[in-house]
Amino acid sequence: ENAAEFLLNLPKAELHLHVEGTLEPDLKLELAARNNIELDQKTIEEVQASYQFNDLASFLAVYYPAMNVLQKEEDFYDLAMAYFRRAAQNGVKRTEMFFDPQAHTSRGVPFADVVNGYHRATQDAASLGIASELIMCFLRDFSAESAAEHLELAIPFKGKILGLGLDSDERNNPPAKFADVFARGRELGFKLTMHCDIDQVGSIEHIRQVIEDIQVDRIDHGTNIVENPELVAVVKEKELGLTCCPVSNSFVTEDMKATEITQLLREGVKVTLNSDDPAYFGGYIGRNYIDYHAKSGVSLEEMVQIAKNSFEVCWISDEEKAQYV
Ligand code: HPA
Ligand code: ZN
Repeated sequence: ENAAEFLLNLPKAELHLHVEGTLEPDLKLELAARNNIELDQKTIEEVQASYQFNDLASFLAVYYPAMNVLQKEEDFYDLAMAYFRRAAQNGVKRTEMFFDPQAHTSRGVPFADVVNGYHRATQDAASLGIASELIMCFLRDFSAESAAEHLELAIPFKGKILGLGLDSDERNNPPAKFADVFARGRELGFKLTMHCDIDQVGSIEHIRQVIEDIQVDRIDHGTNIVENPELVAVVKEKELGLTCCPVSNSFVTEDMKATEITQLLREGVKVTLNSDDPAYFGGYIGRNYIDYHAKSGVSLEEMVQIAKNSFEVCWISDEEKAQYV
């Protein structure tokens, strides 16, 4: 068995995965045909060619319009099931995956259809050997009022949603903008996480806010703490997981951030590796393990530690963790 096969099959949890970011060109065309939606692209190659970007903003400008093909409950189900089939081939045993309800309700899709479609898929993922939960993300470039409304919509679905997250464009949209919504979310019993994207303006201040003010249970990306030894110490002390995404980083910053991830790993931070938006960045979680290993030069023992971290920082009881680590 070579290193790539070992890393692909290594049992792991995926904790930073936007299910809408798993929309492969073939499924996009299939859903467009099924829902009678006219696309500018007619072939898989044309869809692939349209997936063009070089930073977070230009990525998001491609990403949100593509979701228009998702209309019905079964479309959300089919999207998630296609991801689970790939995840199963990448050694994934558990996922806590993000979805963006506002990207759908803003187009007139009922909230219930989104949640029910995804939830039905998480249940059927068990047949592929994957335990899965949902994290509802708010779009940070939408208002705090819209986030609050969607949190209220989620209450009847509480049993189907494990946590709350925050994604989309971070510029001028600091964590503090959503402090009240996340405080209410915690009161309701949701786990909390937020994106602190790579190399964003104000990154260190945003990370400070998510830890001190929001009191998150995990941080998505967050790799920039490497610049600040005090934050590294706090993250270690609180045993906060960082959900790093090297292949995604290489698209939005032209750098996998392998050096930074390795430094944090060796300082004892619970870093994990994840795929973020694999249909757009051209690599599922196995590719992230393989490419990071090749680029960083860390040992296979250290790669095993990363996989172990992914189970340690996931949102299950210690008894449940025992079956994985
Ligand atoms: N950052 C912000 N928003 C996103 C991302 C990301 O990495 N992926 C999908 N939406
Ligand atoms: Zn992300």
